[in-house]
Amino acid sequence: MEDLSPRPGDLEPIETASLDELRGLQTARLRATVAHAHAHVPHYRRALDAAGVHPDDVRELADLARLPFTTKADLRETYPFGMFAVPRAEVARIHASSGTTGRPTVVGYTAGDLDVWADVVARSLRAAGARRGHLLHNAYGYGLFTGGLGVHAGAERLGMTVVPVSGGMTERQVQLIVDFAPDVITVTPSYLLALVEEMERQGVDPRATSLKVGVFGAEPWTDDMRREIEERLDMHAVDIYGLSEVIGPGVASECVETKDGPTIWEDHFYPEVVDPVTGAVLPDGEEGELVLTSLTKQAMPVLRYRTRDLTRLLPGTARTMRRMAKITGRSDDMIILRGVNLFPTQIEELILGQVPALSPHFQCRLERTGTLDSLTVVVEHRADASPGAVAAAADELRRLVKASIGVSVTVDAVAPGAVERSMGKMRRIVDARPPR
Ligand code: DLL
Repeated sequence: MEDLSPRPGDLEPIETASLDELRGLQTARLRATVAHAHAHVPHYRRALDAAGVHPDDVRELADLARLPFTTKADLRETYPFGMFAVPRAEVARIHASSGTTGRPTVVGYTAGDLDVWADVVARSLRAAGARRGHLLHNAYGYGLFTGGLGVHAGAERLGMTVVPVSGGMTERQVQLIVDFAPDVITVTPSYLLALVEEMERQGVDPRATSLKVGVFGAEPWTDDMRREIEERLDMHAVDIYGLSEVIGPGVASECVETKDGPTIWEDHFYPEVVDPVTGAVLPDGEEGELVLTSLTKQAMPVLRYRTRDLTRLLPGTARTMRRMAKITGRSDDMIILRGVNLFPTQIEELILGQVPALSPHFQCRLERTGTLDSLTVVVEHRADASPGAVAAAADELRRLVKASIGVSVTVDAVAPGAVERSMGKMRRIVDARPPR
């Protein structure tokens, strides 16, 4: 794999500024954000007044803990434009997250916000190893989803040549990768796997493509998946994190020279990790729910937004800013099976790390018989595994889940192609339980 580490002078000064300088900038920006939200968003004025906090009380970063949280429910209740802090006519772009239930969550950007967004995505892509002049195959979906257009603008800002292919039409994606010879691909990790399969079907060697780096996000993926992707494609696999409510992709991104969890672009998004049950702020290093406060957004500032993503805050390595550990999962995706908590990422680690006859294509199917919940891991075996090896692999995965997570599951090892493929975010959990 090519060395894509940044060269001296590539980085923005703030990426390597002193911690003091960073904290000073964050403090000034936090104060301005709280004042802006309080002055222009009725929801924040009410919530801050109810908490007995006036914007002038926010003097240092530690004062953040006094502010109330913002949740997805708050965004739904003010649907569609109630969280905007500027007149609608000053909103240059609207995105929305589909939301599996109920109303979508709507977010807005001023022209200035779009500018900041392009900057943080450009910074993310550069951290991942992309450079001016590289060709980008952008297979994140375009439309209301923030992935496609968000990455697109950032890549243009960096000076890349962008192919806005979006998701879907898998056969043609492979043809374009062969013909255009991209250096970089941006796509969900699960859809990347579908592209690899299609390459193999067309007789294209995935290791022989022009791709140097893939920038993967929008869904959880593990270090074992990184190894799988890097081996199968002979390219770097780097993690990009973000969410629409906070801006979209580009809240945090991994640095290719360290690949040790996304660096949070703290000059624009202030992170905290809290206990998901009590809401208490946890010290860096402890796992909990990521809470983010925007520091520069104008159209839709967010104060202490509960992401529901579970992670840990870690000290900076390649940059001054702190990192987050790769996301374990969303608190909503935690399976509670007979009293034991379990995330699909744990299953992914066991499959890819320890059972070579099984593939990364899997789903967790929840069922109920009588009052008893059960979990079946439906997982494809590798095409070259013999029937004996497949049966042994299913047994082995069942044993590993019991030994490391502490719960009994059923493992159904199925033929390649039997598990549904995603063109964006993969549905890892299929809940077939009747409502109680
Ligand atoms: O998924 C934004 C995005 C697009 C990020 C492309 C990265 C690349 P939403 O649709 O609002 O926005 O979904 C946000 O996706 O709260 C996480 O649960 C999950 N997620 C996003 N990135 C990662 C990641 C986009 N790198 C939700 N690892 C977030 C794990 C991720 N989960």
